[in-house]
Amino acid sequence: MFACPGNPGMARVATCVPGEPLAAAVRTSAELTVVGPEVPLVAGVVDAFRARGLRIVGPNAEAARLEGSKIFAKDFLQQRGIPTAAYTTVEDASHARMALGRFGFPVVLKADGLAAGKGVVIAHNASEAEAALATLKGRLVIEEFLTGDEVSFIALCDGHDALPLAASQDHKAVFDGDHGPNTGGMGAYCDAGILSEAHTRMVMERVILPTVEAMNFTGFLYAGLMITADGPKVLEFNVRLGDPETQPLMHRMQSDFVPALLAASEGKLAGQKLTWRAGPSVCVVLASAGYPGGYETGKEIRGLQMAEAKGATVFHAGTRVLHSRLETSGGRVLGVTASGADLPGAIAAAYEGVGHIDFEGMHYRRDIGSRGLGRSPAR
Ligand code: AMP
Ligand code: GLY
Repeated sequence: MFACPGNPGMARVATCVPGEPLAAAVRTSAELTVVGPEVPLVAGVVDAFRARGLRIVGPNAEAARLEGSKIFAKDFLQQRGIPTAAYTTVEDASHARMALGRFGFPVVLKADGLAAGKGVVIAHNASEAEAALATLKGRLVIEEFLTGDEVSFIALCDGHDALPLAASQDHKAVFDGDHGPNTGGMGAYCDAGILSEAHTRMVMERVILPTVEAMNFTGFLYAGLMITADGPKVLEFNVRLGDPETQPLMHRMQSDFVPALLAASEGKLAGQKLTWRAGPSVCVVLASAGYPGGYETGKEIRGLQMAEAKGATVFHAGTRVLHSRLETSGGRVLGVTASGADLPGAIAAAYEGVGHIDFEGMHYRRDIGSRGLGRSPAR
């Protein structure tokens, strides 16, 4: 297994190869490539691989617009009658001011393009809306504020079929109790109680399969859902696995993922199955001081071995090795992930791992997974 470019965490399970992905795949004679982040997908990495006859899991550039442009995604949802929040699109801040009156407060403002999870502002009053308009540049989506339980629904797709992964929940706000600005995600958990079977079927029939069919979608289709009183509605599409949702998903996945990935790359997903352990899994993100705003890097990270000796898996995000010392190199630094027999057990195991790790300015949420605690296991 190779990772391009990889990081110090991946280096423990794969050979890290620098450079451009297509060249790296050719050089290593890769039989299958799975794309992680959205930027190369939007730039057409899948199209480039296919043009060379190389097997790859991911959407082409056209389908990746579902994540690359919020306006494209909203117009697509509306045209296809897929449930989503009411919205309007505006060219700039002055048009936004005129449109705001129609929505009342709270209202949701979204920058059109890729923004690493930080292009969305929920404004509770006119002054918050003004402040948001000063930071969000270019075309915007103005959207009805929805309430309900938020669910990350990810399906592996092969152009006509789709295989849902287990549902998970992200924690987007930086502080406990969902306070503070949105981040790329401060933690996630995966638990059978998150989405009922009826809602899972509904999301497959009304959201995932119509999208796969309309776009010949291949790769991971991630629907960020709000489970409202009127049923599930799409908040956003991503065209990749979620971060940090993938960490608890991989921890809980029981089956070998590779046959399903190969099948997806060949348009032969039908008949593939994924199985999940009964017990839930939890990932707590450790972030740098200041994130999601400006942050410093280069802080030494300590305690990873102890955390892993106690049973956690520590996924790396913003780390690097410099002079044989592991240090921070990003806003979200590590994803400390553990499973348990039940949700309280999985939460305790993840935070036990967190307790062994330390770097200057480290901060994290203390309530990851707690939303699931009040829920009966078989909803
Ligand atoms: P997005 O990147 O579109 O998923 O938005 C980031 C976060 O903002 C979501 O995960 C939700 O927590 C919140 N959000 C987005 N759209 C809405 C909406 N229409 N109503 C309420 N919250 C929303
Ligand atoms: N956790 C949300 C995302 O990956 O965009």
